[in-house]
Amino acid sequence: MIPVEIIKHKRDNKVLTKEHLNYFIHGYLSGDVTDYQMSAFLMAVYFNGMNEQETFDLTEIMLNSGKIVDLNYIDKSKVDKHSTGGVGDKVSLILAPLVASCGISVPMISGRALGHTGGTLDKLESIPGFNVNYDLNDYKRILEKNGVVMIGQTADFAPADKKIYSLRDVTGTVDNLSLITASIMSKKLAEGADAIVFDVKMGSGANLQEKDESIKLAKYLISVSKKFGKKAIAVLTDMDEPLGNKIGNWLEVEECLEVMNGKKVSDLEKVNNVLSGAMLYLGKKAGNIDEGEKIAEEKLKDGSAYKKFLEIIEEQKGDTGYIKDWKNLKRTEYSKKISAEKDGYISEMNAFKFGLASIELGCGRKKTDDKIDYLAGIVLDKKCGDKIRKGETVCELWAEDESKTINAENLINEGIIISEKEPEKRNLIIDIID
Ligand code: URA
Repeated sequence: MIPVEIIKHKRDNKVLTKEHLNYFIHGYLSGDVTDYQMSAFLMAVYFNGMNEQETFDLTEIMLNSGKIVDLNYIDKSKVDKHSTGGVGDKVSLILAPLVASCGISVPMISGRALGHTGGTLDKLESIPGFNVNYDLNDYKRILEKNGVVMIGQTADFAPADKKIYSLRDVTGTVDNLSLITASIMSKKLAEGADAIVFDVKMGSGANLQEKDESIKLAKYLISVSKKFGKKAIAVLTDMDEPLGNKIGNWLEVEECLEVMNGKKVSDLEKVNNVLSGAMLYLGKKAGNIDEGEKIAEEKLKDGSAYKKFLEIIEEQKGDTGYIKDWKNLKRTEYSKKISAEKDGYISEMNAFKFGLASIELGCGRKKTDDKIDYLAGIVLDKKCGDKIRKGETVCELWAEDESKTINAENLINEGIIISEKEPEKRNLIIDIID
């Protein structure tokens, strides 16, 4: 086969066969297909889409590009969660230790920042020493010993996603239903879980900004899971404004530590507890999601999630001293406060614009090999619905120097809307599909 002919096939909106996809994905891994050819291919998929069969074939090929773990030797339910991507979405860092502390095994393969959204791996790597690259044997060993393991795509697990993911991040090809499905499912099916909870984000900060597309994504994720014999639930959650009060890699770890030590951050806690509840239900530790949510609330309160989080850090070679010192706020050199231009209520904090601003500050990548500034980010003093007076701080930007905050400030100013009338409260948990 000839790579350019496959690109042209999709460019001309024709259906790709499994053989086409197999050749192209394996060619990319072997070097026979280049980055520029893969970029063109991804853009053709972005414009012309893939049908269900193509999506399923792509998922299977990407899954089989690496190993598929058999976790039957672990005598516990194995349940994981994956988010379709959001801004300030740090839930995995609380949920994984929390659910593991309830006796469920949590095998978690995550991704890095993608488009305007953050990534669990970058957040974990903001903890000095934390290792997200383990081979199959170490993955199994850590999971069995600790009840939870948090890693990324590797040469062993979903290597095709590892390579394609970082290219999508910088080529405008994130927001496609089929590419998202194949990316998520190739990781989730490789890791060995029996059941998966999907957090499907909806709103300005979601990877798919059309509501109908997000619902379709939820259905695709569930249907592919079922085809592979996995139990699955999708929780549709609001991502119109950032989740929680902190955006940025270390800042988000810090916020999770605050929540695991008793601070109230209501939207973050609610999403965490419902998703954890769904995992506990699928893992047979709760009779239904509501009951699971109550157990999650308890485990957050009694310190079990924090204790397990410290065990994860220790096991995966992170600096526990750095973590325990979280109250001693670690910040970049430069900061800039953004204040309200008038009195009123915050009626919009556009999550997409906040996500783009966080990339400008240094939290994400503009090119595949960009270095991340782990301490950069945004701290929100206000959230949607809050009353505000002219001159009061809405949020504070943190970056290496002033130059990094100029574009970010413009984006944030575009993203904040202050209205005279108090806005209606939006539902954080929009729907649950199984
Ligand atoms: N999460 C993933 O792992 N992949 C995507 O494409 C989007 C969210």
